[in-house]
Amino acid sequence: MTQRLNRLKIATLLANPPLHQPTVVLGWVRTRRESKAGVAFVEVNDGSTFDNLQVVIPASWSGYAEIVPLLHTGTAVRVEGVLVPSEGGRQAVELQAGSVTVLGESDPLQYPIGKQKISYETLREYTHLRPRTNTFGAIARLRDVLAAEVHGFFRARGFRWVHTPVITGNDAEGAGKAFQVTTLDLEGIAASGRDSETGRSGKAPDHKDFFAKDFFGKAVSLTVSGQLEAEAYALSLGDVYTFGPTFRAENSHTSRHLAEFWMVEPEMAFADLEDDMELAEAFLKHLCRAALEQCPREMAFFKERVEPTVIERLEAILAAPFVRMTYTEAVEHLKASKETFEYPVEWGTDLQSEHERWLTEKYCKAPVILIDYPKDIKAFYMKVNDDGRTVRAMDVLVPHIGEIIGGSQREERVDVLQARMKEMGLDDHAIASLDWYLDLRRFGGAPHAGFGLGFERLVQFVSGMANIRDVIPFPRTPGRI
Ligand code: 4AD
Ligand code: MG
Repeated sequence: MTQRLNRLKIATLLANPPLHQPTVVLGWVRTRRESKAGVAFVEVNDGSTFDNLQVVIPASWSGYAEIVPLLHTGTAVRVEGVLVPSEGGRQAVELQAGSVTVLGESDPLQYPIGKQKISYETLREYTHLRPRTNTFGAIARLRDVLAAEVHGFFRARGFRWVHTPVITGNDAEGAGKAFQVTTLDLEGIAASGRDSETGRSGKAPDHKDFFAKDFFGKAVSLTVSGQLEAEAYALSLGDVYTFGPTFRAENSHTSRHLAEFWMVEPEMAFADLEDDMELAEAFLKHLCRAALEQCPREMAFFKERVEPTVIERLEAILAAPFVRMTYTEAVEHLKASKETFEYPVEWGTDLQSEHERWLTEKYCKAPVILIDYPKDIKAFYMKVNDDGRTVRAMDVLVPHIGEIIGGSQREERVDVLQARMKEMGLDDHAIASLDWYLDLRRFGGAPHAGFGLGFERLVQFVSGMANIRDVIPFPRTPGRI
């Protein structure tokens, strides 16, 4: 007999209860309690929805004495029974069990996430078990809904999803330090000072020679962003987006940085910064609305247990237009403010998260799109403004997070782009690795623009979770994997 014969997921069964029908439920025990009359009440969760199903095991069941004592938190069970209206106040229906089978036991003395309250930090030691908790189950379902809505939003607007590579030969993209990918015998090099294949001394080898024997015949790394490759497809297909993992080897130990994170990067041909800002605002609003509409149970839980203002915050995003401001204006407001910041603000320096949060949380009390940043603090590919000092960059700042989106109109003038590469300190080797990128301007270059949304920062924003490590299933941060 198939395990799944007559099986109903708890989400389906609670939404539309087939009363008095033979029903099978497969899931994990959350709690068990026995009444004085010897009836057992077992809360079972199968992950399909936030809520548990109450299973009632009558004292008259022949297997009671053998099975009920095994039903500890975490035990996998198969329950056959019939759904009946519940007499207790908390749930509409309950499953009157005819029989219960233990599929996998869970020793209460060993199970690390049993009954006692346990901090998010401690749960990071058990990333493989934490999705069994209310919080991490809710986060996982929210992530799934938001990811599907990323695709839904772009498909509805005629954007194509492009799969950009994870391993890249681009050098010095200006988006943070990259992880090197190599098959060279690093232990051998360390031990002998020489690489067994190249025979080269490990000391200050010539870059090109040294990597000629590496897997790809050159130095390569994990991608920091799919943008440059997305540009190639935007300048062929029109409107495209990427959605995949990106990697940054920065030694950041903050609550909003990961070494591996997911990024959504739309790129539009025949578009300018204005078009980019409109897309970013519509996109964020779409995702916030989707969370409210499709995850009401999870959102109610986040409000109750994670961050009391989280729903209001999302509603506020939907209600008002985003504030638009130049970097120069923002610096003036910051300097005129009475706040004491840890880092001073001067025109030409990058804004810190404390500055971003003051602008969006205190000064504007709304999401802010900052544009026209000084060219020296932004990547080489951003279009230079007529003032020669600023670039057509935009950062979208939201309360609780600060920067959630970074984007720009791209420089389409090949001579200006080459000059910017040199100005930003790219060496000949790096510029040569990007010659294909210059081709995109040499042959049919057109105005184009795009942005990157940090997917975990979005999930953090929507759920109210304080630490980015708690919104990705298996976080990777410096020193921890
Ligand atoms: O601002 P960033 O570095 O922009 C880019 O990478 C561009 N290539 C995007 C584009 O124009 N296509 O990164 C984009 C977003 C940030 O705004 C932030 O939300 C997120 O990615 N992000 C991170 N999220 C988690 N951990 C990190 N270490 C992150 N670094 C950036
Ligand atoms: Mg940025």
